Order: sequence, then structure tokens, then C-alpha cells
Amino acid sequence: MTRKGKVTVVGAGFYGSTTAQRLAEYDIFDEVVLTDIVEGKPEGLALDINQSRPIEGFETLVTGQSTGPGGEGYEAIAGSSVVIVTAGLPRKPGMSRMDLIGVNAKIVRSVAENVVKHAPDAVLIVVSNPLDEMTALAAKVTGFPATRVLGQAGMLDTARFSYFVAEKLGVPVGSVQTLTLGSHGDTMVPVPSACTVDGKPLGGLLSQDEIDALVDRTRNGGAEIVALLKTGSAYYAPSAAAARMARAVAEDSGQVLPVCAWVDGEYGISGVYLGVEAEIGASGVRSVVQRDLTDTELAGLREAAEAVRAKQADVASL
Ligand code: LAC
Repeated sequence: MTRKGKVTVVGAGFYGSTTAQRLAEYDIFDEVVLTDIVEGKPEGLALDINQSRPIEGFETLVTGQSTGPGGEGYEAIAGSSVVIVTAGLPRKPGMSRMDLIGVNAKIVRSVAENVVKHAPDAVLIVVSNPLDEMTALAAKVTGFPATRVLGQAGMLDTARFSYFVAEKLGVPVGSVQTLTLGSHGDTMVPVPSACTVDGKPLGGLLSQDEIDALVDRTRNGGAEIVALLKTGSAYYAPSAAAARMARAVAEDSGQVLPVCAWVDGEYGISGVYLGVEAEIGASGVRSVVQRDLTDTELAGLREAAEAVRAKQADVASL
């Protein structure tokens, strides 16, 4: 097997370290770099993942590197084709993702500045919350082309929706196709018209009330897990989504995935980072893919765009 390239995960919390593990276990990269500001943590986790290699049978080298307040240690990310930013605080029970905006903006700003210095050609995938705003901030701070900065949310929200449908109907998750657009928050826009089970429209299998309940659970999918965990937030499904996005970039796959991308005219919406479907390749977003939406879904998407637009303008000053 040919392995190539290097990807970096910034932030060695559960989300970051699980993402690094998934990327390493794909066994398609030369190197996965994991960084954190807590001295010893990324080094220790990298050592641990490397020791799993003989058992799991993958050769990708995982390098742990702690970073200092002045950006010391960031040299380790040089040459990365993709940098995933997981740095930032997770929610506590009862908090909304938006409650994290002040503290996480400072963290994401500093990470973005270091990415510009050390991996200026990388595609940046942001997962820190509040997602849509942190993606917009990272794009602004890096000055990268908007298509080279994207956020992870739609894949996660869509996966949650699919799982809830599969669970409700007692069918394999593989038979379920769902979609959410909009923001990774209150204005998430589930798209029932794009949802099918074994190719059959969801609307013919569940009542509107049942679909509404699943949509509601999807919208609160992150908070449900935060409330159960009591400390920290979800990371298995989020890391699966982030790692798949990075892989689509690294392999220049052309897959169409729901992501947070810069929207410039699609759906009559412009100048905002928003959850949409996009074709992903080596340079990030090749194009935003539009589909036919019902009037209600389109109205929801436009409403989401306006809600995140206002916040994204504020975040530039944080
Ligand atoms: C969630 C966090 C990661 O939705 O935003 O679980």
C-alpha cells in the first residue's frame, strides 16, 4: 500500500485524539501530527496510538507535539495538506454552542495564525464551536481562499438523523439516506424531501409528527450527549465525520458531502459560511452543490443564513 502526505489535528482532547486515531487507522498517510497546548499530552497520546500499530496493523506514524503560547512547536505541522482544528472548549450541560464564542474565538484565532505561518497551503477543516462562526473566523484570520476553509457539522448532523431514523424503523443505517443543511445549531435545517429508506421517501414510512420528533432530536443531538456525559461533548461521531472530510481532501475524491462552506450565490444566498452540500477535493470545496428544496426547506435555509451571517460579522472582532 502506498501511503502519502501528512495531516495535522490541532487539539488533543477526545475529539482531536479520536480524529487522529481514525486518520492513522486509515493507513493512507505517511504521518498524522497531533498538537495541543498541554505539554506532554499530544506526545503521550501519539505514543499510545503508535503502540497500537502492531496490533491494528497500520504504518502511519503519529507525531505528538505540544505547542507554546508564542507558537513554539508549530513547526511540526509544516507540509500538512490538511489541518483539522479541534482546539477550543466543549460545552457543559445546559450551555448552547454559542455560549463558547468568546473563549473559542481567541483559541481559533491563535491556531489560525500559526497555520498561516507553518502550513500556508493546507486545507483547513474547523470543528470548534460555535461551528459556523469559528469557520468564518478561521477564514478571515488565515486570509486563505474561502474554498480552502470549511467546517464539519453537516456530516455529523446528517449521521445523527440517519441513525435516529434507522433506530425508529429498525432498519440498517446503510439503508437510510438523510440530509441536514443550515447551521450546526438552532437553525439546523433537516431536509425531509431528501430523506429515503431503501430508496423510498421517508414521508411514506413515518408520520409528520414522527419525522418532526426525529428532526428535533437531531437538532439537539449534541446537547443530548453533553447532558448524559455531564463533562465534555460527543466525539466518536464528530471525529468520524472530520476524518472522512480530511480523507476526501487528501484523496481528491470529489465526494459530495454536507459541510459548512462559503456560499456565494447558491440558493440565492451570498457571503456567508453555511451548511450545504459540497464537492470536496484537494483544494477544499470544488463547488457547492444545489438541490431542489421544498419552499419550507428553502425558507429555513435562508433564515439560517441570516442568523449565522449576523454572528459571523460579530466574530471578526473577537
Ligand atoms: C456536537 C458538537 C461536537 O454536536 O458540536 O456533538
